[in-house]
Amino acid sequence: MRCRVASLGELEPGSLRRVEPEGTAICLVRLNDGGVFAIGDECSHEDIELSDGDLDGDEVMCPAHGSCFDVRTGKPSGLPATAPVPTYPVHIDGDEVFVEIGD
Ligand code: FES
Repeated sequence: MRCRVASLGELEPGSLRRVEPEGTAICLVRLNDGGVFAIGDECSHEDIELSDGDLDGDEVMCPAHGSCFDVRTGKPSGLPATAPVPTYPVHIDGDEVFVEIGD
């Protein structure tokens, strides 16, 4: 299912934003180079919102214990998290940002 989650203009480069299309908690990432990615907003270590963390290059750093998650693969690059978070395809149509969730 393709869900509209934001307009491109409201996503500052280098920012994170929590969105909840159809009740799915997603951390929407706007990289400094303008790219937009979507990963699950719950850290795989504990129940912490990654959108409260910081962007470090193309990784999101968890605000609790500092594991960093690749925005393209969802994989952590360091402990304590060991499991990836989900990733979701992003589509840009004009100024509209859509995320693909579920089937
Ligand atoms: S809750 Fe994210 S690294 Fe611990």
